[in-house]
Amino acid sequence: MNNFSLNTPTKILFGKGQIAGIAGEIPADARILITYGGGSIKKNGVLDQVREALTGRTVFEFGGIEPNPTFETLMKAVEVVKAENVDFLLAVGGGSVADGTKFIAAAAQYDAAKNPWEILLTRGSKVKSAVKMGVVLTLPATGSESNNGAVVSRKATGDKLPFFSAYTYPVFAVLDPVTTYSLPARQVANGVVDAFVHTVEQYLTYPAEGRIQDRFSEGILLTLIEEGPRALAEPENYDVRANVMWSATQALNGLIGAGVPQDWATHMIGHELTAMHGLDHAQTLAVVLPSVLEYKKEQKRAKLLQYADRVWGLRDGSEEQRIDGAIAATRAFFEQLGVGTRLSAYGLDGSTIPAMIAKLEEHGGKALGEHQDVRLEDSRRILEAAR
Ligand code: NZQ
Ligand code: ZN
Repeated sequence: MNNFSLNTPTKILFGKGQIAGIAGEIPADARILITYGGGSIKKNGVLDQVREALTGRTVFEFGGIEPNPTFETLMKAVEVVKAENVDFLLAVGGGSVADGTKFIAAAAQYDAAKNPWEILLTRGSKVKSAVKMGVVLTLPATGSESNNGAVVSRKATGDKLPFFSAYTYPVFAVLDPVTTYSLPARQVANGVVDAFVHTVEQYLTYPAEGRIQDRFSEGILLTLIEEGPRALAEPENYDVRANVMWSATQALNGLIGAGVPQDWATHMIGHELTAMHGLDHAQTLAVVLPSVLEYKKEQKRAKLLQYADRVWGLRDGSEEQRIDGAIAATRAFFEQLGVGTRLSAYGLDGSTIPAMIAKLEEHGGKALGEHQDVRLEDSRRILEAAR
């Protein structure tokens, strides 16, 4: 196992009715800005619950943060933060709202002489402070509610880039599974796929004697395989929703990735698909992951065999057959959830692959994967094989 330092400072308030407790987590004299997306929280009553919980507080609101949040929109919120002297941000929504709010938090206190897009170009390394923030999560998927990462897109240039900062951990996150009942099936499926792929990107590399990390990862994967389809079939089953929600948080709060090698090639290639073609984040992962596993079969051999055995129960046949079976089962799982695993499922014929590879190069994606050996030519082949 590799050395690691792990800090997961976000306080989790989990369960039905927990939104009522947020006032106790926010300083009494705070000037609060509630940030949200396209309005789902108005329809499902979550915004009302938040307003109710913050009765008597100084509260402003900023809506309209889009899926794959854009720099352009977020900079408008930065203006509100500055104009109203906001000192606490409350993100209410999915990963896009949480991520967008992390950017707002960092950009509002960024060197005034600099363009805040630099935060993305430098991956957050120059962020020295940020406005404090909390999250009321309504879509289990990204893990953004209790990690320090965010991904921001820029419409003008077709870029989608991540940043990370020690200053952008949410102070608290409310995870009330009831808020997820109103999710459209597509977003439920997206969330399960995203959490699944986060786990795989930290697990399916090469053996590193991270036995706890492996067992936790396998537990998350098995839970998602069991409960993901049930969340679609039984949308108001509280315990199913609770397990999916907790899986997604655990998949990317740092725990399973501590002390073990990590891949992330699928995510980096996938971001280019969203930036160029607007696919949902999880759709890109469902397309790219099976192709990466196929392409990297030899380097990932030992872990693929472990994955086949412990996650998919494949114990018969040759090693080759078990590995192929595990990759096929992964693809079938995504398809079962209704998330297509080929570019063609999204009307793409592969003609833009060279343009996406050029963007990947521009974004520093020349050496991806746990061995940094996924070069641009490999990423191109991975996408070609995903047609
Ligand atoms: O905007 P509203 O109206 O709220 O609707 C949203 C949106 O249209 C809707 N939704 C959310 N909660 C709902 C709901 N509809 C009904 N009922 C509810 N309870 O769902 C749609 C998608 O929301 P979005 O926040 O975009 O989805 P998700 O949580 O999947 O976030 C995706 C973003 O997170 C980034 C992705 O790249 C993408 O930009 N990621 C962030 C990560 C991180 N910070 O660690 C890691 C991930 O790998 C990922 O890259
Ligand atoms: Zn993801």
